Amino acid sequence: MTVAVFDAKPYDRLHLPAATGADVQLRFLAFRLTADTAAAAEGAKAVCVFVNDVVDRACIQQLVARGITLVALRCTGFNNIDLDSARELGLTVNHVPAYSPYAVAEHAVALLLSLNRKVHRAYNRVREMNFSLQGLVGSDLHRKTVGIVGTGKIGKIVARILHGFGMVVVAYDPYPDPAWAAREGITYLDPITLASMSDVISLHVPLTPETHHIIRRETIERMKPGVILVNVSRGGLIDTSALIEALKSGRLGGVALDVYEEEEGVFFEDLSSHVLQDDLLARLLTFPNVLITAHQAFLTHEALGDIAHVTGVNLRALAAAHPFLKGSVLT
Ligand code: NAI
Repeated sequence: MTVAVFDAKPYDRLHLPAATGADVQLRFLAFRLTADTAAAAEGAKAVCVFVNDVVDRACIQQLVARGITLVALRCTGFNNIDLDSARELGLTVNHVPAYSPYAVAEHAVALLLSLNRKVHRAYNRVREMNFSLQGLVGSDLHRKTVGIVGTGKIGKIVARILHGFGMVVVAYDPYPDPAWAAREGITYLDPITLASMSDVISLHVPLTPETHHIIRRETIERMKPGVILVNVSRGGLIDTSALIEALKSGRLGGVALDVYEEEEGVFFEDLSSHVLQDDLLARLLTFPNVLITAHQAFLTHEALGDIAHVTGVNLRALAAAHPFLKGSVLT
């Protein structure tokens, strides 16, 4: 059985073959899957995709017309897949329901610490033999309040790590886990109160129509002046124009991002010899109190191993007409 692996990176080429075994032939493709590139899956029985492949209705129609029966996401989030169309057109979609949530949680904390203590600026400065401390004053996190928005697998770990730093941890989730909160000494609040009292807000929610732009002008206005915002979840949670406005006015103390709403075609690519066409991203990159990484929170050996394992089990199951891994099937 052949599987077309779109948007394949060197680490995919390293981890996936070991997990899929000899019955599955992997066709690695460096470009993303869209309706325009779906023809590259010709002859395959399944496609394997990542966060920025665009599996919309037009793409699904192309895949189904070519006899593809499975879309295997090698990630957790599935906001880039039109699940209704997949269901309607008989295409199975599965994802990796969980992989090392520590990878993502620890990256969120790494971004917060770097931004707060201005490590990103100090690193560049010292390399230029500039040993001045001018402008590098940070704040203790100890005794500050962090608002965790979304207390699923990743949010809970971030909460625990920051609790360990001596932060007061408050949280909002429409489906709270009161037993966990009581055990960890964490208080659930409504989102407005959370926004008004948090020194740091960290987002750990999936991107859905309900969570699209949960951070926008009016929600930023409810936040404490000087708040640090961390988003390692999905770019679409934040209205970038409103973010830039708040950064320009000094309303926000800092912003740490591993995701960006228009990241497709930019993140994961080496564009160092190109002119950046995205003016909002270009503006974001000019702020000294903005730290951006290009969707690398998942990038640990452990998480890549977990992702390859689940994807491999599911692709082998398809090849052998066995059931897919429990919990991984979306349609
Ligand atoms: P999860 O499904 O375990 O938890 C999500 C939580 O968000 C749930 O408790 C849910 O009730 C809550 N939620 C839903 N709507 C909400 C709202 N409007 N306000 C507050 N909470 C809400 O998901 P997990 O594993 O913790 O992942 C969270 C997100 O992290 C994923 O959806 C994905 O987008 C992102 N992610 C990013 C990665 C990266 O490399 N940057 C890697 C993996 C995940």
